[in-house]
Amino acid sequence: MRIDVFFTPLGLNTGDLAGRAVVVIDVLRATTTVITALANGAKAVIPAATSEEAVRLASNLEKDGVVLAGERKSVKIEGFALGNSPREMTAAAVGGKTIVLSTTNGTPALVAAQGGDPVLIGAPANFKALAARARDLLARRGDLVIICAGREKQLAIEDGYAAGRLIKAVRRGMKRLQLNDGVHAAVALTTAFPGWKEAVEGSDAARQLAEVDLAEDVRFAAKQDRFAVVPTYADRRIT
Ligand code: MLT
Repeated sequence: MRIDVFFTPLGLNTGDLAGRAVVVIDVLRATTTVITALANGAKAVIPAATSEEAVRLASNLEKDGVVLAGERKSVKIEGFALGNSPREMTAAAVGGKTIVLSTTNGTPALVAAQGGDPVLIGAPANFKALAARARDLLARRGDLVIICAGREKQLAIEDGYAAGRLIKAVRRGMKRLQLNDGVHAAVALTTAFPGWKEAVEGSDAARQLAEVDLAEDVRFAAKQDRFAVVPTYADRRIT
Protein backbone atom coordinates (compact mmCIF):
# COMPACT_ATOMS: atom_id res chain seq x y z
CA MET A 1 0.00 0.00 0.00
CA ARG A 2 1.30 3.42 -0.90
CA ILE A 3 0.42 7.08 -0.26
CA ASP A 4 2.23 9.98 -1.95
CA VAL A 5 1.77 13.70 -1.32
CA PHE A 6 2.99 16.34 -3.76
CA PHE A 7 2.97 19.92 -2.43
CA THR A 8 2.81 21.32 -5.95
CA PRO A 9 2.00 19.60 -9.26
CA LEU A 10 5.19 20.94 -10.83
CA GLY A 11 7.23 17.74 -10.70
CA LEU A 12 4.53 15.61 -12.29
CA ASN A 13 4.94 14.36 -15.83
CA THR A 14 2.27 13.14 -18.22
CA GLY A 15 1.58 9.52 -17.46
CA ASP A 16 2.87 9.64 -13.85
CA LEU A 17 -0.63 9.27 -12.48
CA ALA A 18 -1.98 6.75 -14.96
CA GLY A 19 -4.35 4.42 -13.16
CA ARG A 20 -3.63 5.91 -9.71
CA ALA A 21 -6.34 7.25 -7.39
CA VAL A 22 -5.78 11.01 -6.97
CA VAL A 23 -7.15 13.75 -4.71
CA VAL A 24 -6.52 17.40 -5.69
CA ILE A 25 -6.64 20.07 -2.98
CA ASP A 26 -6.65 23.87 -3.31
CA VAL A 27 -8.38 25.07 -0.16
CA LEU A 28 -7.94 28.78 -1.08
CA ARG A 29 -9.89 28.70 -3.20
CA ALA A 30 -10.24 26.65 -6.40
CA THR A 31 -11.32 23.28 -5.02
CA THR A 32 -13.59 24.93 -2.43
CA THR A 33 -15.17 26.86 -5.31
CA VAL A 34 -15.61 23.75 -7.49
CA ILE A 35 -17.20 21.79 -4.64
CA THR A 36 -19.57 24.67 -3.83
CA ALA A 37 -20.59 25.12 -7.48
CA LEU A 38 -21.44 21.44 -7.89
CA ALA A 39 -23.20 21.24 -4.53
CA ASN A 40 -25.33 24.19 -5.65
CA GLY A 41 -26.43 22.53 -8.88
CA ALA A 42 -23.82 23.37 -11.52
CA LYS A 43 -23.95 20.79 -14.32
CA ALA A 44 -20.16 20.60 -14.59
CA VAL A 45 -16.98 22.57 -13.99
CA ILE A 46 -14.35 22.57 -16.73
CA PRO A 47 -10.91 23.58 -15.42
CA ALA A 48 -8.71 25.54 -17.78
CA ALA A 49 -4.95 25.96 -17.39
CA THR A 50 -5.05 29.56 -18.70
CA SER A 51 -7.67 32.27 -19.23
CA GLU A 52 -7.19 32.02 -23.02
CA GLU A 53 -7.90 28.29 -22.80
CA ALA A 54 -11.04 29.05 -20.73
CA VAL A 55 -12.33 31.40 -23.43
CA ARG A 56 -11.57 28.82 -26.13
CA LEU A 57 -13.29 26.00 -24.22
CA ALA A 58 -16.33 28.18 -23.50
CA SER A 59 -16.66 29.15 -27.17
CA ASN A 60 -17.15 25.47 -28.04
CA LEU A 61 -20.13 25.20 -25.69
CA GLU A 62 -23.75 26.32 -25.92
CA LYS A 63 -23.67 30.05 -24.96
CA ASP A 64 -26.78 29.93 -22.73
CA GLY A 65 -25.48 27.15 -20.54
CA VAL A 66 -21.92 28.32 -19.96
CA VAL A 67 -20.42 30.68 -17.37
CA LEU A 68 -16.81 31.90 -17.47
CA ALA A 69 -15.23 32.19 -14.03
CA GLY A 70 -11.79 32.75 -12.60
CA GLU A 71 -9.23 34.99 -10.97
CA ARG A 72 -5.79 36.50 -11.34
CA LYS A 73 -4.16 37.93 -8.21
CA SER A 74 -7.37 36.82 -6.43
CA VAL A 75 -9.68 39.16 -8.35
CA LYS A 76 -12.14 38.35 -11.14
CA ILE A 77 -10.65 38.13 -14.63
CA GLU A 78 -11.85 41.07 -16.71
CA GLY A 79 -14.74 40.12 -18.96
CA PHE A 80 -15.54 36.91 -17.02
CA ALA A 81 -18.97 36.60 -15.39
CA LEU A 82 -17.73 35.29 -12.04
CA GLY A 83 -14.51 35.32 -10.04
CA ASN A 84 -13.21 32.42 -7.97
CA SER A 85 -15.22 33.03 -4.83
CA PRO A 86 -17.13 30.04 -3.48
CA ARG A 87 -19.70 32.53 -2.22
CA GLU A 88 -20.45 33.54 -5.81
CA MET A 89 -21.37 29.95 -6.70
CA THR A 90 -24.99 30.30 -5.64
CA ALA A 91 -27.77 28.13 -7.05
CA ALA A 92 -29.06 31.21 -8.91
CA ALA A 93 -25.67 31.85 -10.53
CA VAL A 94 -24.62 28.30 -11.39
CA GLY A 95 -27.71 26.03 -11.32
CA GLY A 96 -27.80 23.91 -14.50
CA LYS A 97 -24.75 25.72 -15.95
CA THR A 98 -21.34 24.53 -17.09
CA ILE A 99 -18.67 26.66 -15.42
CA VAL A 100 -15.39 27.10 -17.26
CA LEU A 101 -12.92 28.03 -14.52
CA SER A 102 -9.40 29.42 -14.70
CA THR A 103 -7.41 30.17 -11.53
CA THR A 104 -3.76 30.87 -10.80
CA ASN A 105 -2.71 27.58 -9.20
CA GLY A 106 -5.83 25.49 -8.67
CA THR A 107 -7.00 24.82 -12.20
CA PRO A 108 -3.45 24.19 -13.55
CA ALA A 109 -3.09 21.60 -10.74
CA LEU A 110 -6.35 19.98 -11.78
CA VAL A 111 -5.29 19.86 -15.41
CA ALA A 112 -1.96 18.31 -14.34
CA ALA A 113 -3.85 15.61 -12.40
CA GLN A 114 -5.60 14.31 -15.52
CA GLY A 115 -4.71 10.68 -16.02
CA GLY A 116 -5.48 9.80 -12.43
CA ASP A 117 -8.30 7.30 -12.03
CA PRO A 118 -10.33 8.62 -10.38
CA VAL A 119 -9.40 12.27 -9.73
CA LEU A 120 -11.36 13.49 -6.69
CA ILE A 121 -11.78 17.14 -5.69
CA GLY A 122 -11.15 17.87 -2.02
CA ALA A 123 -11.24 20.67 0.57
CA PRO A 124 -12.42 21.12 4.17
CA ALA A 125 -15.83 21.90 2.61
CA ASN A 126 -16.35 18.22 1.71
CA PHE A 127 -13.82 16.64 4.08
CA LYS A 128 -15.87 13.85 5.66
CA ALA A 129 -17.33 12.63 2.37
CA LEU A 130 -13.93 12.93 0.67
CA ALA A 131 -12.16 10.97 3.43
CA ALA A 132 -14.71 8.14 3.16
CA ARG A 133 -14.19 7.87 -0.62
CA ALA A 134 -10.39 8.14 -0.36
CA ARG A 135 -10.20 5.55 2.43
CA ASP A 136 -12.28 3.14 0.38
CA LEU A 137 -10.05 3.67 -2.67
CA LEU A 138 -6.88 3.15 -0.63
CA ALA A 139 -8.27 -0.06 0.89
CA ARG A 140 -9.38 -1.47 -2.48
CA ARG A 141 -6.55 -0.23 -4.70
CA GLY A 142 -3.67 0.05 -2.24
CA ASP A 143 -2.63 3.41 -3.63
CA LEU A 144 -3.49 7.08 -3.14
CA VAL A 145 -1.89 10.28 -4.46
CA ILE A 146 -2.67 13.69 -2.96
CA ILE A 147 -1.78 16.70 -5.09
CA CYS A 148 -1.76 20.12 -3.45
CA ALA A 149 -2.09 23.10 -5.79
CA GLY A 150 0.41 25.14 -3.75
CA ARG A 151 1.17 28.78 -4.34
CA GLU A 152 3.93 30.51 -6.27
CA LYS A 153 5.47 27.11 -7.02
CA GLN A 154 5.80 26.34 -3.28
CA LEU A 155 3.92 24.69 -0.46
CA ALA A 156 0.68 26.40 0.58
CA ILE A 157 0.20 25.67 4.27
CA GLU A 158 -3.58 25.31 4.06
CA ASP A 159 -3.25 22.64 1.35
CA GLY A 160 -0.47 20.78 3.17
CA TYR A 161 -2.49 20.82 6.40
CA ALA A 162 -5.54 19.48 4.55
CA ALA A 163 -3.41 16.70 3.02
CA GLY A 164 -2.18 15.74 6.49
CA ARG A 165 -5.69 15.66 7.93
CA LEU A 166 -6.81 13.51 5.01
CA ILE A 167 -3.95 11.05 5.45
CA LYS A 168 -4.74 10.68 9.16
CA ALA A 169 -8.38 10.02 8.33
CA VAL A 170 -7.73 7.48 5.56
CA ARG A 171 -4.87 5.43 6.99
CA ARG A 172 -6.34 4.68 10.42
CA GLY A 173 -5.77 1.00 11.20
CA MET A 174 -3.92 0.33 7.92
CA LYS A 175 -0.51 -1.28 8.21
CA ARG A 176 2.57 -1.60 6.02
CA LEU A 177 2.07 1.65 4.15
CA GLN A 178 4.82 3.01 1.94
CA LEU A 179 4.87 6.78 2.40
CA ASN A 180 6.83 9.46 0.55
CA ASP A 181 8.51 12.38 2.37
CA GLY A 182 5.55 14.62 1.54
CA VAL A 183 3.25 12.38 3.61
CA HIS A 184 5.47 12.70 6.71
CA ALA A 185 5.67 16.48 6.30
CA ALA A 186 1.90 16.82 5.78
CA VAL A 187 1.12 14.73 8.87
CA ALA A 188 3.64 16.76 10.92
CA LEU A 189 1.83 19.94 9.81
CA THR A 190 -1.39 18.74 11.42
CA THR A 191 0.23 19.12 14.85
CA ALA A 192 1.29 22.71 14.12
CA PHE A 193 -2.25 24.13 14.22
CA PRO A 194 -5.17 23.52 16.58
CA GLY A 195 -7.63 23.21 13.68
CA TRP A 196 -8.77 24.25 10.21
CA LYS A 197 -9.44 27.84 11.22
CA GLU A 198 -5.86 28.51 12.37
CA ALA A 199 -4.24 26.62 9.49
CA VAL A 200 -6.36 28.24 6.78
CA GLU A 201 -6.66 31.74 8.23
CA GLY A 202 -2.95 31.92 9.11
CA SER A 203 -1.76 31.22 5.56
CA ASP A 204 -0.09 33.50 3.00
CA ALA A 205 -3.05 32.97 0.66
CA ALA A 206 -5.45 34.12 3.39
CA ARG A 207 -3.43 37.30 3.84
CA GLN A 208 -3.54 38.00 0.11
CA LEU A 209 -7.31 37.44 0.06
CA ALA A 210 -7.80 39.73 3.08
CA GLU A 211 -5.90 42.47 1.24
CA VAL A 212 -8.51 42.44 -1.52
CA ASP A 213 -11.46 42.28 0.94
CA LEU A 214 -12.04 38.55 0.52
CA ALA A 215 -11.47 37.47 4.12
CA GLU A 216 -15.04 36.15 4.11
CA ASP A 217 -13.97 33.57 1.50
CA VAL A 218 -11.21 32.41 3.85
CA ARG A 219 -13.75 31.87 6.64
CA PHE A 220 -16.02 30.07 4.18
CA ALA A 221 -13.21 27.76 3.05
CA ALA A 222 -12.07 26.95 6.61
CA LYS A 223 -15.40 25.43 7.63
CA GLN A 224 -15.46 21.63 7.48
CA ASP A 225 -18.26 19.57 5.95
CA ARG A 226 -20.44 22.22 4.35
CA PHE A 227 -21.26 19.72 1.60
CA ALA A 228 -21.32 15.96 1.09
CA VAL A 229 -20.42 15.99 -2.62
CA VAL A 230 -17.15 14.52 -3.85
CA PRO A 231 -16.69 15.88 -7.37
CA THR A 232 -14.81 13.70 -9.86
CA TYR A 233 -12.73 14.92 -12.80
CA ALA A 234 -12.97 12.72 -15.87
CA ASP A 235 -13.03 13.39 -19.63
CA ARG A 236 -11.98 17.01 -19.01
CA ARG A 237 -15.04 17.82 -16.86
CA ILE A 238 -15.67 17.82 -13.14
CA THR A 239 -19.10 16.53 -12.17
C1 MLT B 1 -5.39 29.68 -7.08
O1 MLT B 1 -5.75 28.96 -8.01
O2 MLT B 1 -4.22 29.94 -6.85
C2 MLT B 1 -6.44 30.26 -6.20
O3 MLT B 1 -7.66 30.07 -6.76
C3 MLT B 1 -6.12 31.69 -5.92
C4 MLT B 1 -7.30 32.46 -5.34
O4 MLT B 1 -8.11 31.91 -4.63
O5 MLT B 1 -7.41 33.65 -5.59
